[in-house]
Amino acid sequence: MPADTRHVPVLLAETLTYLNVSRFRDQDGIFVDATFGGGGHSRAILEHTGRGTKVVAIDRDQAAVGRAVPLRERYGDRFTLLQGNFADLSQLLQEVQIKGIDALLLDLGLSSYQLSNAPRGFSFQLDGPLDMRMDQKQEISAADIIRTAGVDQLRDIFKRFGEEPYAGSIARAIVKARSVKPITTTRELADLIVSLTPPDKIHRRLHPATRVFQALRIAVNEELQALVAVLESGLEWLNRGGRLVVISYHSLEDRIVKRMFRQWSDPCICPPGLPVCTCGKVPQVRRLTGKVVVPGADEVKRNPRSRSARLRAVERL
Ligand SMILES: C[S@@+](CC[C@H](N)C(=O)[O-])C[C@H]1O[C@@H](n2cnc3c(N)ncnc32)[C@H](O)[C@@H]1O
Repeated sequence: MPADTRHVPVLLAETLTYLNVSRFRDQDGIFVDATFGGGGHSRAILEHTGRGTKVVAIDRDQAAVGRAVPLRERYGDRFTLLQGNFADLSQLLQEVQIKGIDALLLDLGLSSYQLSNAPRGFSFQLDGPLDMRMDQKQEISAADIIRTAGVDQLRDIFKRFGEEPYAGSIARAIVKARSVKPITTTRELADLIVSLTPPDKIHRRLHPATRVFQALRIAVNEELQALVAVLESGLEWLNRGGRLVVISYHSLEDRIVKRMFRQWSDPCICPPGLPVCTCGKVPQVRRLTGKVVVPGADEVKRNPRSRSARLRAVERL
């Protein structure tokens, strides 16, 4: 495999610190890496913890199963990969008879393997079918949405999940273009968006199709619903003192994480100025990252894909 398609784990040192791996050198623990990808974070957790600590990894993508084999061979029953959606965390953990967990890691979004694989259809830089399904057993692909959604639905997707300023005109252009010829490839969709963009709005750093591709991917995989679901159930599964670390890559995800962490750490709804709390809502977590953690200039230089990463962490009380 060419070197640039390998996935380099993002914010690795920071992730290990916030997951508190050093506590598990000689203490038993269960870590859940709910976004296995290329296994970079799982491997590092296994390396930095002792024999009593197990890693249960999850990924929606069947292709991750093959990448898990070396870890299984090296670490035996300390490592398990479950293929599934982290939105179904409770069901997945019950299937492997787990009672509680000491850490949950979510490194959201796509792996380099997915992005650089043209037939998966995630990238506007590579020509491939408009697919974008993380789980290839899922029925609806990006091509289905582009083929069937009406103008209003397309505009809504591009606006809500891509914050695309030209959502309406792009939606109308898609519906018009597909009445002449179906849009089935990443190149066709990217070229259409470029053709609608005024030359003075074409920036070197952000391709005009970036936001629409992000929006479609989020819609196809129902990513924001899955994030809310895994955060809610993750909190229930964490043992006291357990850590939850989330790395997100765009503001829609980060806003959800920030809002939920704040609700859990500062749940009191009493009017300001009351001498004692009367609402009875007690904090469920302690926030470990006052300010969001971002990669340093060195990491961004070494791994440009890390540039938009944002890490937040909490500890279960
Ligand atoms: C950024 S990559 C993780 C990379 C990994 N931390 C590493 O070091 O190699 C994100 C992975 O999470 C998976 N993923 C995204 N959403 C998911 C979901 N709802 N359920 C399970 N896996 C998901 C993707 O398929 C992808 O492989």
